[in-house]
Amino acid sequence: MKPKVLIKKILNWGSPDKYVRKLHEKKAYLDAYAAHTDTRVAEGDYQKAIGGSWEEMGKLQFEFLMKKGLEPGHRMFDIGCGTLRGGRHFIAYLDQGNYTGFDISEEAIERGKRLVEEEGLAGKKPNLFVSKEKNLKFKELEGKKFDFILAQSVLTHLPPEPIEECFENIGKIMKEGSVFYFTYFEGGRYRHFSIEDFEYPFSHFESLAEDYGFLVKDCSEEYPHPIGQKMMEVKKKTA
Ligand SMILES: C[S@@+](CC[C@H](N)C(=O)[O-])C[C@H]1O[C@@H](n2cnc3c(N)ncnc32)[C@H](O)[C@@H]1O
Repeated sequence: MKPKVLIKKILNWGSPDKYVRKLHEKKAYLDAYAAHTDTRVAEGDYQKAIGGSWEEMGKLQFEFLMKKGLEPGHRMFDIGCGTLRGGRHFIAYLDQGNYTGFDISEEAIERGKRLVEEEGLAGKKPNLFVSKEKNLKFKELEGKKFDFILAQSVLTHLPPEPIEECFENIGKIMKEGSVFYFTYFEGGRYRHFSIEDFEYPFSHFESLAEDYGFLVKDCSEEYPHPIGQKMMEVKKKTA
């Protein structure tokens, strides 16, 4: 048994949430969240570890970006790519070298790399890496620009600070015409409603967009997410 799995089994006596609560008591939010994802991947079910609905959610993301005009020659960045639920479809479709994915979970990235081999996609040379600093400043991608950026089920798990950091910095990796799509849980007001889940009103993102020079548009009608995550489109404001 892997050490992380054993630790979880020991700490999890009594309540299913106990291990996760303990992680969050001891560590900063993103360190705890990364450790939780690491443990879930290390337990062996890499599909459930990042939320399950493997086929359905993978296809939903892929078909949505296809509808939005994704072409094999486009460069795409998958923020919080996890174990490549969506990534495997994008890697297969895009030209060699055009898919980049990063994640704060080392185990997820390791498993994703293995999946690329297992699915015969190594020739597509995806750029998969761990976000060691766990921030959304995108320093590792300095000088690179992406046509499409996606964060599926990522901002749903983020408190306000990293979300603002994302809006502050994402423009550096976008060119005119680039588009950033992300999902979120919508609520009438900001709410941290479970250990790793957050709700925001649409106006929260409108206000961030205004502050950092973007336009946001709700695309949820085109995105039938099984548990009602909303889909947001973010584009640079043009003069
Ligand atoms: C629910 S999973 C979704 C994974 C993938 N997007 C998908 O749809 O299958 C969320 C992923 O986001 C990653 N994540 C959360 N916050 C992140 C951050 N600030 N930077 C990079 N990855 C992050 C987590 O480690 C986890 O793998």
